Amino acid sequence: MVLKSTAINNRRYLGNKYKLLPFIKRVVNENCHDINTFADLFAGTGAVSSAFTDKTIITNDILYSNYICNLAWFSSQKFDVEKIKSIIAAYNIIQTTELNYMSENFANTFFSAEDCSKIGVVRENIEQQYKAGKINERERALLITSLLYAMDKIANTCGHYDAYRQGVKFDKHIELYYPNASNDNGAENFCFNEDINTVAKKVEADIVYLDPPYNSRQYCDAYHLLENVARWEKPAVEGIARKMERKSLKSRYCTKAAAESFEDLVNNLNCRYILLSYNNMNKKGNDRSNAKISDDDILRILNAKGRVQVFSEGYKAFTTGKSDIQDNEERLFLCICHE
Ligand SMILES: C[S@@+](CC[C@H](N)C(=O)[O-])C[C@H]1O[C@@H](n2cnc3c(N)ncnc32)[C@H](O)[C@@H]1O
Repeated sequence: MVLKSTAINNRRYLGNKYKLLPFIKRVVNENCHDINTFADLFAGTGAVSSAFTDKTIITNDILYSNYICNLAWFSSQKFDVEKIKSIIAAYNIIQTTELNYMSENFANTFFSAEDCSKIGVVRENIEQQYKAGKINERERALLITSLLYAMDKIANTCGHYDAYRQGVKFDKHIELYYPNASNDNGAENFCFNEDINTVAKKVEADIVYLDPPYNSRQYCDAYHLLENVARWEKPAVEGIARKMERKSLKSRYCTKAAAESFEDLVNNLNCRYILLSYNNMNKKGNDRSNAKISDDDILRILNAKGRVQVFSEGYKAFTTGKSDIQDNEERLFLCICHE
């Protein structure tokens, strides 16, 4: 079997800004000067950071699964390309029906019983190789990332793990690709896996890019299964969607406390520019899709920190049901911070 490779954007992720990169780059290039450090503190997939790899990159995400992918793509630690390729190729030819954490808890839900068994075998092996000192932290992250991207490709969902389609025939089988990451990342790159309001107090950067969740939809609910496999703590799961306990992963940016958290965050940022992505779903969709921070609050908070400009571009809204929002636009708020 020929080993295929994969790139950072080859995964489905709510609010992923890959398609907006030309717009984001244009705003940065035309308005921000002397940028050496780019901090992407609600990094998600890391797609936005991938457009600024000529700078020192700092990423952060509350989800460990995103942290692992960010480490795989951006860490400065070196890895052995041939070793990773041969481990992935060996994973691809495994055939197993072993009973393990994955097959016992998830068989024939998001994946077939056989694929669950294989995911369990692969994930366990990654941990064993790491504990035995055969792979380093970056190599572990690359292998987990390869597995998470492979799961996303075949999951019996519409891209997130709130529900799966019942009674389907599982016709796609898991195939791991080699994540085409660079071995020449900036020596000062750093990835965090913490609440952003904590990280804000530790980071110093020329530009901080902020892409918070917009609405009440918690990312830990949508991606619980990827998070579970990335962490590999094998917790009990419950309900039809087989979710683990997620209290510590909930984001205040999806709640009524969003504006207050945003104000605390902005006040603590140590940077020359803040670039905020926030769409204009203020009160246009259903309750769940309504934005959690009003434009008035965004402008009040950013204006206290510096001079603010707003850039916008038409963009297709994410809707799950009947509300079809036509005039949705992605906006970038640029705050040139006071000295
Ligand atoms: C809109 S998504 C970012 C998408 C990203 N720009 C991309 O292109 O993939 C928001 C991200 O913020 C993370 N997040 C939410 N609340 C957070 C918090 N309090 N601290 C750190 N990360 C958080 C979520 O896990 C999610 O990945």
